[in-house]
Amino acid sequence: MTPLIVDTDPGVDDAFALAVAALAPEVDLRAVTTVHGNVAVEQTTENARRLLGTFGRPDVPVGRGAGRPLVHLLGRRPGRLSGADVHGDDGLGGRSGDFGPPVDESELRAVALMASVIEASEEPVTIAAIGPFTNIATLLSARPDLEERIGRFVLMGGSIAYGGNVSAAAEFNVWGDPEAARRVLTGSSVSTTMVPLDLTMRITLTGDWLDGLAATGPVGAALASTREAYLAAYSARFGHAAMAVHDAVALLEAITPGTVSTTPLPVDVDTSTGPGRGTTIGDLRGAEAEATDGARPVEVALDADADAVRAELWRRLSG
Ligand code: RIB
Ligand code: CA
Repeated sequence: MTPLIVDTDPGVDDAFALAVAALAPEVDLRAVTTVHGNVAVEQTTENARRLLGTFGRPDVPVGRGAGRPLVHLLGRRPGRLSGADVHGDDGLGGRSGDFGPPVDESELRAVALMASVIEASEEPVTIAAIGPFTNIATLLSARPDLEERIGRFVLMGGSIAYGGNVSAAAEFNVWGDPEAARRVLTGSSVSTTMVPLDLTMRITLTGDWLDGLAATGPVGAALASTREAYLAAYSARFGHAAMAVHDAVALLEAITPGTVSTTPLPVDVDTSTGPGRGTTIGDLRGAEAEATDGARPVEVALDADADAVRAELWRRLSG
């Protein structure tokens, strides 16, 4: 079984992703670490603890992580959509209290917990990061000696040609900490798969699909119950009642490599303070191109069989 760490900012789609990870027989979920993002880290930490309690995983330690990005711009960052607009004030569509009982919080904070798991593992550890990448960048900076013991990063974030969801240009996780995203995407030698909006926005769940999932059992019912604000935001924004579960697609890839089809592309990040802040720049000239600032190629997930991904989510979440 592959040792797995999930770094997360739950988050409605994070909840679907954590359920997939917690219930997957193929992986050994060694730790969950939390980060600022959809809601404050205090809330993302409580949500992660409650979600693991709901999924019957009190064995998985939860390490609280960064409450703010590496570089905190004093002025307003470009972008209007806040996490709470989509995920609700509590991050779980107002239903966080229905989840639990919350598992204990680890005495180790996120970076120390990740380091402890990596040091103790006999096999390379996969890290799936589905919120802003602040903890990951900090781990790489604080413990460069551990890089060679990380098997791969699977990152939900960025966009190549799709544009932004939190601003005209930026995807939420990268926008949440552009400097961290640049450090992880360009400053590491760890094999990295990036799952961008170009793909995740094509794999959506309708209200009918969620109704069906709710009828399959307690996990499906709990997950479907978080949909209200999320589905309303997507309906208002895209005109059809369907929601993208970005993070769940990334976790399916982390658990079953090859779920998505990837293209090797150098990817850099705009860390300016202008309207493009948080833009991910994929060099479509291909990996052989002279990439911006020498960014190394990462595997960018640009395609998948959406029906097969939905069917796999159903299989894993319907108990
Ligand atoms: O842009 C989508 C990402 O931002 C997902 O991780 C979602 O949970 C939000 O955090
Ligand atoms: Ca997330």
